[in-house]
Amino acid sequence: MHICTLLVCFLLANFLRLYHRRLRMPLPPSVSTLNESTQSRWSIYADCSKRLGPVISAPSIFGTSVIVLNAKSAVTDLFEKRSNIFSCKPLWPMAELLGRHNNVGFTYYGPRLKKLRRILHKSLNPVALSKSWAYLLQQQSTELCWALSENPDNGYHVVELVVQELITRFTYGHKPDQEYLALSRIISERTGEALQPGRWTVNFIPALKWVPSWLPGAGFQKWAQDARQIFYRIVREPYQECKLKMMAGVAEQSFVQRSLSELASNASHREEEIVMFAAGSLFSAGTETLSVVLLNFIGLMARNPDIQLKAFNEISTHVGLERLPTIDDRRLLPFIDCIIQEVHRMHPAVCLVPHSNTEEQIYNGYYIPKKSWVMANVWAMLHDDKEYPHPDEFTPARFEGTSPSADPRIMTYGFGRRRCPGSRFSDLFVYLAVAKILRLFEVLPIEQNGKPCYPLLESTPGVISFPKPFKFQLIPRPEAHDLLLKDRAGAESGKEEMKFHSN
Ligand code: HEM
Repeated sequence: MHICTLLVCFLLANFLRLYHRRLRMPLPPSVSTLNESTQSRWSIYADCSKRLGPVISAPSIFGTSVIVLNAKSAVTDLFEKRSNIFSCKPLWPMAELLGRHNNVGFTYYGPRLKKLRRILHKSLNPVALSKSWAYLLQQQSTELCWALSENPDNGYHVVELVVQELITRFTYGHKPDQEYLALSRIISERTGEALQPGRWTVNFIPALKWVPSWLPGAGFQKWAQDARQIFYRIVREPYQECKLKMMAGVAEQSFVQRSLSELASNASHREEEIVMFAAGSLFSAGTETLSVVLLNFIGLMARNPDIQLKAFNEISTHVGLERLPTIDDRRLLPFIDCIIQEVHRMHPAVCLVPHSNTEEQIYNGYYIPKKSWVMANVWAMLHDDKEYPHPDEFTPARFEGTSPSADPRIMTYGFGRRRCPGSRFSDLFVYLAVAKILRLFEVLPIEQNGKPCYPLLESTPGVISFPKPFKFQLIPRPEAHDLLLKDRAGAESGKEEMKFHSN
């Protein structure tokens, strides 16, 4: 037989086999209803998966299939081993109208995403971290402790503000002004609204993206246009400002400054745009997640005085009480790391991590349609009582000893080719902040009517699981004020040295 005929037969047989398989293959078993008034979505999915198996279907979003993966094995099989297929992000037309598809976290998989991630990796890899950002992390973690000691009644807000300063200093080399913060808040709210299920017809019929704003019924276009203008302002303006400072030779070291310096002098407009949008992605990607981890840490400490004491003893034994813990001390403080792991485990910042598949797939006998929302239920995996016995108890010791439980950070920072590029940066900041807070303060619940009022740490239902606002007290430990003053003075001299290196 002719070789071409053979090839055609082979392809046809393959096609028929796949087609037949698809007809016989069901979708994963489905969750019939979601009552989110009493329970969060991730814990409903976790409960259902106990009856239905680790891979389930949830009610569709914008008419698209939603598949939830509740076991580590399923996430590894799909997001890691089939990462060539499961590294896209779900289609989200309203976010595109807001311009958000330019942000790394919303970018569909392809050459542009690779460029964005490559440029982020250049500034966030372990060598760059220790060479270029150690001073910033060191200084800003001390600033966090200082600001908390100055304004303990407003601690929740202080944490958010110091983290916002950290991310903008890293990105652009300066602290954010009030206008930037206000516009970023608007964009975050508008993005949340754009994702509301059922609110926008364009999310069900993507072709409506092309409808002109003057047509009757196209009010969504005007709404999106207003938000888009704000989004482009907060992306463009600080970037341009940094460029001008570079030209004048007064730019502080930052992600934008480093990335532009590394571009060739004849770099194209497109290459510059990659730097601009990579930078413009960091505020929304980094501030809320990092704040959530620190807020949950503080809330959990207020509920666990014995754990604080054990950590303080570890610091006083291995670092001493004459100075604050530094990056180099990290390996001497394994219990601090256990606390960080347990904070991530009990309250992951992103409970449901969405990816999407560029091809239809069969997995364990189930059919996963092309372009589904495929969500890793990180919360379920971290509350699996086989890996983490008594998952509702705060037990950092589960990560000690010869057979510790799996490190939750393998999951809380995401998966495969979309894993968080800022994971090392934030993990180092979390370590410094946690170690310094535990050295300097005792965290206590506030008292109401003579009774301790413990933070409940109930999380809000959005994409990022913020704990609901709570109050706490900080009692300074011996020499806290002097140590803070000394460390702030040291960090200032480090900054001068930094300027010297970047110029
Ligand atoms: C404790 C703090 C943080 C947590 C828990 C966290 C978690 C995550 C998660 C779960 C994802 C989605 C991964 C996936 O889709 O598989 C992600 C993406 C991302 N994160 Fe983080 N993150 C944190 C801090 C940061 C920081 C500080 C930065 C920047 C300096 C950052 C930058 C990003 C970016 C740019 C993405 C998008 C990556 C992509 O879609 O390819 N994150 N992060």
